Amino acid sequence: MSIRRWRILPAASPLRGVVTVPGDKSIGHRAVILSALASGIVRVRGLSDGEDNIRTRAAMTAMGVVFRDLDDGAVEIHGTGLSGLPHAPAGVLECGNSGTTLRLLAGVLVAQRFATQLTGDASLSRRPMGRITRPLRGRGARIEGRIDADRRDEVPPLAIQGLSPGQSLSELVYDLPVASAQVKGALLLSGLMADGPTQLREPTVSRDHTERMLVAMGAPVHTMGSAVMLDPTGWDRALAPVDITVPGDISSAAFVVVAAHLVARSRVVLRGVCTNPTRTGFIEVLRDMGGLVAVDPRGETTGEPLGDLHVGLPGSEGLRRGARVGGELAVRCIDEVPALVAAAACVPSESVFSDLGELRVKESDRVDALVDMVRAFGLGADARPDGMVLHGGVPRGGAEVNSRGDHRVAMSAAVLALAARGETVIQDVSCVSTSFPNFVTVLRSLGASIEEN
Ligand code: S3P
Repeated sequence: MSIRRWRILPAASPLRGVVTVPGDKSIGHRAVILSALASGIVRVRGLSDGEDNIRTRAAMTAMGVVFRDLDDGAVEIHGTGLSGLPHAPAGVLECGNSGTTLRLLAGVLVAQRFATQLTGDASLSRRPMGRITRPLRGRGARIEGRIDADRRDEVPPLAIQGLSPGQSLSELVYDLPVASAQVKGALLLSGLMADGPTQLREPTVSRDHTERMLVAMGAPVHTMGSAVMLDPTGWDRALAPVDITVPGDISSAAFVVVAAHLVARSRVVLRGVCTNPTRTGFIEVLRDMGGLVAVDPRGETTGEPLGDLHVGLPGSEGLRRGARVGGELAVRCIDEVPALVAAAACVPSESVFSDLGELRVKESDRVDALVDMVRAFGLGADARPDGMVLHGGVPRGGAEVNSRGDHRVAMSAAVLALAARGETVIQDVSCVSTSFPNFVTVLRSLGASIEEN
């Protein structure tokens, strides 16, 4: 039975311990997809068992890619190369809550010789897809979404015709209007099978996991600042089957890091977390607020840096200043804003979150959901078109929060609840299994009191 509700008590003692978080969700999607397209067998270690990554695996399985779970926890993926996936799926490809599954797969599916349909749950079915369908059509892809008159955009389900006989995808030169790793990733994936180069430019650099993994597998990808180029001229069109280790998810780690800042005298170590600089913006924001996250580098894995995060070291002044998020920093902490909002809500000064229009088209409208969440704790929050302004303090007891089916809103409320004056109830929390299925176990191991029912 799925867990519907958490009851959380204020932390009675400091959070203490050493934890690991699930494998990085973004890297996991790419590991599954690129291994399936590799020219041989790839072993992937550290893949998250969150539902979103499972969706990507299930979709690839439905198209004939073989996955084998090994005894040591690794997954063996039998890559089928870039000349076409084995067969059409028997039905619609269900992506659940996972926008990354749907958008990245679209980039692969437009280059197949069979037709497919990509769909998702109620939340995903509202999310904008014109951002991938338009540029993909620009290189000859036959892909259409359902038109949502209110959004004035295409939304799932996406119908993909695949290539007609003799047709191939053409080159693409495209400036992304909004920085987005899902869009960039989908276009690069389609470029692996295209006739000409793929040249992209973003307003600022979004997470670069696709580029890093492609380079590790020997694909002709080059980046310069926010520009990326994939030029297949002279390439043998083979992705080398290099084994992949997925580092810990910094977006999941962010909730634990903030919890350890909100509960006095906590000392927590998070082992083996991805420290790719396109993902570490929240650490910079926390430092500006007076927090301290020490990063102990632990080398690299498949082109991704990783490290242990230490919170609660001597020298930390504690969160004293409001948060300031905007500009390129906003892109580098886009998924950590919910955790940062919990941190900012406990600081008795103004916090300003801007340049975050993208938050309105995530798993929920996160601007509205987070503003409501903060208000439920009796604290000040006002929505802006591209963000929010908070006036923090001590969260009241007795708050009841609804996650709106958004995993990161649920976890943000849970962290805030640890600093509240009394018990908090959070409704609709089964969504947390999309990214951090053992969230409650990890927090309990540090000493938090959370009841599930
Ligand atoms: C992701 C990219 C980001 C991020 C999402 C995961 C990815 O979305 O918010 O959670 O793995 O590529 P956008 O590409 O829409 O910015």
